Amino acid sequence: PPFIITVDGPAASGKGTIANRLGALYGVPVLDSGLLYRAVGVLTRRAGKDLDSEQDAGGVAMTLTAAMLDDPEFRTRGAGECASRVAVHSAVRLALRELQLAFARTPQGAVLDGRDMGTVICPEAPAKLYVTATPEVRAERRWKQLKGQGEEVSLADVLEDIRRRDERDGSRADSPMVAAADAVLLDTTEMTIEQATDAARRTVEA
Ligand code: C5P
Repeated sequence: PPFIITVDGPAASGKGTIANRLGALYGVPVLDSGLLYRAVGVLTRRAGKDLDSEQDAGGVAMTLTAAMLDDPEFRTRGAGECASRVAVHSAVRLALRELQLAFARTPQGAVLDGRDMGTVICPEAPAKLYVTATPEVRAERRWKQLKGQGEEVSLADVLEDIRRRDERDGSRADSPMVAAADAVLLDTTEMTIEQATDAARRTVEA
């Protein structure tokens, strides 16, 4: 079977960094599935459509292709909020499913980074991680990252974003953010990136 590692968890838990490092280590491509939801959110808003309308956002999701993902606006704070609003719609999740499966189902394998990689997209993956950290630590990480991108925002506002997104992602009816039963939990609250990557590697190789 292909070599697939799923890395799920809430925003700024460290999962993106861990996924990228594992991908580099094992020489397999990394899917940032959050980027797909971010793209749908931003493109829906840009078209003047309603983020909270399943039909509007689902329509945009059906037209999304990999070639459309290279836009720095998708990395902004506003894009994260738009993403979590469109991510509640089943039509959006279904439309993005094919793109994700196409990425995962190659002979070379993949590292899949997201919220439901181990539960919905690739439950058969042999290695699953669920990465967490306290909301406070995650907010600080995201705040530094946004500052590095030139976004002016207070730490308190970023913490509020994170809490709101956790709540929305965890309580939606379709594919709520939850650890797969067979995922290994990795709490990175007190870990450096190196320590977290190392712990992830040990889990995968165990
Ligand atoms: O990981 P990232 O912060 O880029 O994800 C943005 C948003 O996209 C999340 O808050 C979540 O609502 C949604 N998402 C999702 N399923 C995924 C990846 C992201 O619902 N697999």
